[in-house]
Amino acid sequence: MIFETHAHYDDEAFDDDRDTLLLSMQENGIGLIVNVGASLKSTTASIRLAEKYPFVYAAAGVHPNETAELNEESFAWLRDQCFHKKVVAVGEIGLDYYWDEPSHEIQKLWFARQLELARAVKKPVIIHSRDAAKDTYDMMAAHNADEIGGVVHCFSYSAEMAQEYVKMGFYIGVGGVVTFKNGKKLKEVVEAVPIERVLLETDSPYLSPEPNRGKRNTSLNIPYIIQKIAEIKEMSYDEVIAVTEENARRMYQIRTK
Ligand code: NI
Repeated sequence: MIFETHAHYDDEAFDDDRDTLLLSMQENGIGLIVNVGASLKSTTASIRLAEKYPFVYAAAGVHPNETAELNEESFAWLRDQCFHKKVVAVGEIGLDYYWDEPSHEIQKLWFARQLELARAVKKPVIIHSRDAAKDTYDMMAAHNADEIGGVVHCFSYSAEMAQEYVKMGFYIGVGGVVTFKNGKKLKEVVEAVPIERVLLETDSPYLSPEPNRGKRNTSLNIPYIIQKIAEIKEMSYDEVIAVTEENARRMYQIRTK
């Protein structure tokens, strides 16, 4: 089965057809989905979806651009959510310097706190990192992220950087960008890292692969990503599905069917 490791079905882009769409996943080969929190509100919504659908799991976390909403009280609430039986990771967390708000200092503060939260609750992390390669890596090294584990989602850095994360024991999240004409860097990443370290993801509703680039993304587009990875790795389509499913199950510690 295809394991979709990163989607946002709580997004308003799915308000008109969320249930119909989710109910069509399994018959289309998408066996498991992790819906990823990006704020306090979307963490709640992710957990609700996971409670409603047996094949949906949730991640609890606050995206770097939303960290201004965190304080001791909301952070304590976030910690409590991590003990829900369908929460499988802390995420998405990290650094995003593409936007200036909140300040780098605030982003770093809550990135550090959420890394330590993941360690305390023994869950992997889902890392979001944009235009912040050095600070992200340095902070993860300083916090011994190799002991925490997780994935660098929507990987946008160099093949060399990807290899450093693999050495740290991390997985590399590969999505629609790998199908783009200007996605050369990510193709090099896929070439450089072992398939045992690759996770399939869409980041729906964003980053739709070719030939649907620019449209709303859904997990039903994952086959385009699989095809591209199979081509780069010179593997069969089914082999890519099988290995990446096992990778995701290992990372999220999900053993149910
Ligand atoms: Ni995301």
